[in-house]
Amino acid sequence: MNQCLTMTVGDDGIALVTIDVLGRPMNVLTAEFGVELTQIVAQIAGNPQINGAVFTSAKADFMAGADLKWILKSVFSIRTPADAWAFAAPLNEIFRKLETCGKPCVAAINGTALGGGLELALACHHRVAADNPHTRIGLPEVLVGLLPGAGGTQRLPRMIGVRDALQLIVEGTHLTVKDAAAKKIVDRVVPADTLIAAAKEYITNGGKANNPWDEKHFKVPGGAGGMHPAAAQTFMGGAALVSKRTLHNYPAPMAILSSVYEGTQLPIDMGLKVESRYLATLLLNPVARNMIRTLFVNKGAAEKGAGRPEGVPKSEVKTLAMLGAGMMGAGIAYISARAGITVRLLDSTLEKAQLGKQYSEKLLAKDLERGRTTPEKAAALLARIQPTTDYAELKDCDFVVEAVFEDRAIKADVTRKTEAVLPKTAVFASNTSTLPITGLAGAFSRPQDFIGVHFFSPAEKMPLVEIIKGRETSPATLARALDYVIQMKKTPIVVNDGRGFYTSRVFGTFTNEGMTLLGEGVKPALIENAAKFAGMPVGPLAVLDEVTVELAYHVTKQAEQDLGSAYTPVSGWPVMRKMVEDLKRLGKRYGQGFYEYPANAKKRLWAGLGEHFPLAATQPDVEEVKKRLLYIQALETARCMEEGVLTNPVDGDLGSILGWGFPAWTGGTLSFIDTVGIEAFVAECERLAQAYGPRFAPSAALKARAAKGERYYA
Ligand code: NAI
Repeated sequence: MNQCLTMTVGDDGIALVTIDVLGRPMNVLTAEFGVELTQIVAQIAGNPQINGAVFTSAKADFMAGADLKWILKSVFSIRTPADAWAFAAPLNEIFRKLETCGKPCVAAINGTALGGGLELALACHHRVAADNPHTRIGLPEVLVGLLPGAGGTQRLPRMIGVRDALQLIVEGTHLTVKDAAAKKIVDRVVPADTLIAAAKEYITNGGKANNPWDEKHFKVPGGAGGMHPAAAQTFMGGAALVSKRTLHNYPAPMAILSSVYEGTQLPIDMGLKVESRYLATLLLNPVARNMIRTLFVNKGAAEKGAGRPEGVPKSEVKTLAMLGAGMMGAGIAYISARAGITVRLLDSTLEKAQLGKQYSEKLLAKDLERGRTTPEKAAALLARIQPTTDYAELKDCDFVVEAVFEDRAIKADVTRKTEAVLPKTAVFASNTSTLPITGLAGAFSRPQDFIGVHFFSPAEKMPLVEIIKGRETSPATLARALDYVIQMKKTPIVVNDGRGFYTSRVFGTFTNEGMTLLGEGVKPALIENAAKFAGMPVGPLAVLDEVTVELAYHVTKQAEQDLGSAYTPVSGWPVMRKMVEDLKRLGKRYGQGFYEYPANAKKRLWAGLGEHFPLAATQPDVEEVKKRLLYIQALETARCMEEGVLTNPVDGDLGSILGWGFPAWTGGTLSFIDTVGIEAFVAECERLAQAYGPRFAPSAALKARAAKGERYYA
């Protein structure tokens, strides 16, 4: 029995091929799909009773791209160019067989058609789409580091022109049916209940059984190749834009440009081979596999509660106590209310609590302006946020998030006041960014129900939430915290208690390295640009200004106080101290930091840096600076694994990309080590330790790991 496709032939001689991939909520391209499509195409071609075929889906959507788990498994078994080719080429051959089967084929697009789903439709000779506002049409492969390798880079430009096609493929844009029809990717839009009949009309009306590019004298609309003025301009501009955006860290966009550039100057069969070859190069490149594994497979699993303790019934937060309506509290109140939760938003004065609610009003006003919500929905969301100063109103809350000042005594005070009224079954979560959870739990009589739930700022935008288990946090509390985070559609990672937990601790090594480099006399612009070239969203000095140099200073001072004689000053301390104590350049919020912030111009590096941190006579190579900035973060993550702050590499990788913007091309800090190779990584750390200081020294455990060649991922 088929697992993906069924075919029935009607009295009209039209074969109706229905895609319904067994056991999947969404149709996806799998190895079986390819096998079954080959058989069905052979039947369509060979059976004289069949006049043509209509392809549609039995599910709500037409078809998404390839099954990423299958791709991931396959790419990890690819070792040689021959392996890569063997994986890349067959899809094109199958779709080409469909396109040249000699019978008219129509795609009846009932819902979303992405990636391989759209490529199947492009290989057909006509496309009819149901007028469905939920449908999305596009080729998003670039987002996972690949290119559309089932004809997408060849058929789409031949259909709509190089410029429009490149825009869609390089950006991975999703279109609505209306937009796809306007771009002529879809030939006809009809009411959903007439879709199949309309698709059949193409065949009964004698529609062609070939695509235009198989006709003599076919020309790519708008031109192709380097000699065509418009096309040449598109490729020149495209290459410049892609270089600027990817800084050569992501190979897929350039491979797409090359595939389109070379392929569209050739006959389609050769063009498809060019495409398969570029896909093969991407399959051999670690970037695609790292991105697929971390950002799709593992992110998806985390969002479904991977690692959630077993045997705890699923929970849902109904009423949240949000303590503190400042920057974090206001954002968390908004996302919680958006998830349908009633929020009691408590602050020390009613004005402050109301100000916190106003944050949601502002966000909703923007959403209304952009048509992203309706007045009714916005009003209902706002009604769920109830500002208060009265602890008694927290008596029916099932979950608490505390985000008052980062001060142990204040936190302990609000914790006690809240517990006095709170149901005995409620979970108490602190959003502290630095204070160990086990210590804070001391103010709560049920430490097993106390946990850290660390949001990032701004809470409504940042996808990650770092959940921190205290020493006594129970599995049931962890499960409930995970349920809450998932309820808000955020991605959770789970870590153990420790100074800076995981994300702040490793992020701190990045900013510290930036300040250390500055202290060594490295040009500030070199430091900032090297970070960006490595793929960090902003340089260490710029990000220090954002979070404030003052905060970094306070965190360092606090560590010194807490650790006493065990404290060793960090390498960036002299620069940090000078910036805060002597120069009073505390960060962007204060109008001055490593950068200056002129009122009517863009920020720029502060000219005075040269005077206070004199330049060294010789400047390091940019590659060396990049390496220092990336290696120190990866090494600190490895330490978090050794110390048990992290219990698995997935949390480390997800947290690094989604939490503080470690470059996505690496797949995360630990995937980065695996990609470099643990032996090479450790050897390089030893060299860096010799050259720049003991913070780069690998531990004995890491050296032992390297000696065994033990990867983080099997
Ligand atoms: P904030 O200063 O903007 O807000 C704190 C709020 O708590 C203020 O509205 C204040 O009036 C209120 N508050 C203080 N004492 C109170 C009391 N006794 N009773 C009731 N309300 C009281 O601070 P922010 O940035 O929102 O930070 C709050 C917490 O979140 C801190 O623990 C911080 O470390 C943590 N955090 C901050 C992040 C950030 O980027 N700002 C990121 C992640 C966590």
